Amino acid sequence: NDVTTRLDGKVAVVTGAGSGLGRQHALLLAKQGAKVVVNDLGGSVNGVGGDSAAADKVVAEIKAAGGDAVPNYESVATQESAEKIIKSAVDAFGKIDILVNNAGILRDKSFGKSDLKDFSEVFQVHYWGTVYCTKAAWNLMNEQKYGRVIFTTSIAGTSGNFGQSNYGSAKAGMLGLMNCLAIEGRKNNVLVNAISPGALTRMTGNLGIDESFMKKLDPAFVSPAVAWLASERCDVTATIITAAAGGFGRLHYFETKGVQFDPSKPITVDMFDQQFDKINDLSTADPSTAGTEGKTQERLDTLSA
Ligand code: NAI
Repeated sequence: NDVTTRLDGKVAVVTGAGSGLGRQHALLLAKQGAKVVVNDLGGSVNGVGGDSAAADKVVAEIKAAGGDAVPNYESVATQESAEKIIKSAVDAFGKIDILVNNAGILRDKSFGKSDLKDFSEVFQVHYWGTVYCTKAAWNLMNEQKYGRVIFTTSIAGTSGNFGQSNYGSAKAGMLGLMNCLAIEGRKNNVLVNAISPGALTRMTGNLGIDESFMKKLDPAFVSPAVAWLASERCDVTATIITAAAGGFGRLHYFETKGVQFDPSKPITVDMFDQQFDKINDLSTADPSTAGTEGKTQERLDTLSA
């Protein structure tokens, strides 16, 4: 079986790879055989400042381990600089096969107290950064008939978290992008998936937990999922993989069986009210009929039958 999890001959860009999760992703992709662009503008957790040392250090680590890597210090947060990130892969290694959109910042504050300027800056890095980098790589990947794009979402987006309305909405927004791009890229072997990680990094702080548990939340435990999603072995698209402390799962949303009223007659608020418990009953949701083949489609099918 020559379809492998190895990445020999592949070229990867990891954004925000100067620390935390991105650093571990870059190290593992390189270990698996990929040539890696280590992108990081080297700012603070809040997205202030910049320093080339962060990316340089990780490049040195990869080289010391016998791998191949180049640094890039551009920000993901403008279209022009994101294009330069992807161009640096093409310039250094001739192509781009793998894009891990990982760069991120935090501006946590409850919605009532938050400044919408923070909202737009968080969106600029997480959401637009993902759009810009993916857009710059997209046509190249589709033309060469190989591409693996990995987004980094968060439980703050998929389930919500106090004080993270800006971050959570950017993280959920990218899932809509993932779902649509997965459909557009599939025919060209360009697969678009997401990880929803959990790890102790400078972004999370140490969360006040004891040292032995801290070790279990090593960001290195997330990276095997990323390396697999980057490989030829990956045959899924539009899939969200949760990864934390050595635990992995798949996260998805499903529609309930719901109700079907007769649409040739008026449909009233009372009718909806009387059936709401049934509409809302998640125990009737069926994982085998997700997405565009979901329950809405099933109900439409019963009408047209
Ligand atoms: P981190 O702060 O250690 O790493 C983020 C990196 O992104 C930093 O090195 C930073 O310099 C870089 N960066 C920030 N803005 C950038 C820009 N405009 N252009 C290029 N690079 C930029 O944090 P961590 O935890 O490793 O976060 C990585 C990703 O994982 C982020 O997208 C974060 O939102 C996500 N995440 C992390 C979780 C965790 O438990 N640590 C949970 C859920 C999501």
